[in-house]
Amino acid sequence: MRMKRLGVLTSGGDSPGMNAAIRAVVKSANHYGIEVLGIKHGYTGLIKGEVIPLGDHEVDRIAENGGTILKTARCPEFMEEQGRQMAVETIKKLGVEGLVVIGGDGSFNGAEKLSELGVNVVGLPGTIDNDLAYTEYSIGFDTTLNTVMDCIGKIKDTDSSHEKTTIVEVMGRYCGDLALYSALAGGGEIISTPERKLDLDTICSKLQDNINKGKLDNIIIITERMYDIEKLGKCIQEKLNITIRSTVLGYIQRGGEPSVFDRILASKMGVRAVELLILGERCRAVGIRNNKIIDVDFRKVNCVDSGKDKEYDLLNQLL
Ligand code: ADP
Ligand code: F6P
Repeated sequence: MRMKRLGVLTSGGDSPGMNAAIRAVVKSANHYGIEVLGIKHGYTGLIKGEVIPLGDHEVDRIAENGGTILKTARCPEFMEEQGRQMAVETIKKLGVEGLVVIGGDGSFNGAEKLSELGVNVVGLPGTIDNDLAYTEYSIGFDTTLNTVMDCIGKIKDTDSSHEKTTIVEVMGRYCGDLALYSALAGGGEIISTPERKLDLDTICSKLQDNINKGKLDNIIIITERMYDIEKLGKCIQEKLNITIRSTVLGYIQRGGEPSVFDRILASKMGVRAVELLILGERCRAVGIRNNKIIDVDFRKVNCVDSGKDKEYDLLNQLL
């Protein structure tokens, strides 16, 4: 029997390109004669039944905007079986036959559990962290990387004028990709990530080496949640007797107009999500590998080698 209605929601931290993904889901579904309900505030809205019908008009000119028109939320109730059962009831009441969840790994955990309760769910990786191993890129990562590079470029201007070093803390939760790729793009001299953590002595000796070679302005890029960067700066300062500045880039990294790369990625992924739901798939996450849109079982999203060792080896040659 032909599918009549599907739902789409955004969950967890917002990421630039989520709107482009929503647009693609709506346009593609409409193309196949399927109605779309937008579910507001992630899983919270799914439990409460907060929905808006989405048609061509509602998604007109949203692809160029950051954030998410559907709003997003972290929903503790959904972590409990009872909350998820309430969501299933809402889904039935609304006549939603398939659900697209746009979010990060937490949202995917929730989606997997929902699929175990008999709901057909497809996930799109919407997170600036790029922390889902099965996909080379998540929606929003490229935009955020560009924002980080823009900020670092500005810090470099003042650092080089004053011949000073700055520690720059970037987001990523427990994943070092934002730090790694900014360094690969020439953004920093020293990097420390959860995957390759440097201790204080190593940071100091690398910095001292650079200074000895005449490189007096240095950027140290670190992933959030690893150190207290004020304290780290003070420790380096005491050990090397130089002035260290520190900047936490913070939420500026999550906003802004999505890059063309993210819009195209989101659009291709949104179309695949609808196709998978039409085929009756119930537990798939859409991704990209070797420039091809792929889909994998939710249970396998983190059972894949993310291939980052190669990138770290490459970086060693560039720093
Ligand atoms: P992200 O999706 O960006 O990683 P979170 O980790 O905050 O963000 O997850 C978003 C939401 O997904 C949570 O607020 C919760 O509602 C749901 N979720 C996360 N982990 C689980 C889990 N293990 N089981 C059920 N739902 C979960
Ligand atoms: O997952 C995206 C992210 O921006 C992480 O990089 C960061 O650690 C976290 O969300 C911040 O979450 P919150 O919006 O709850 O402060």
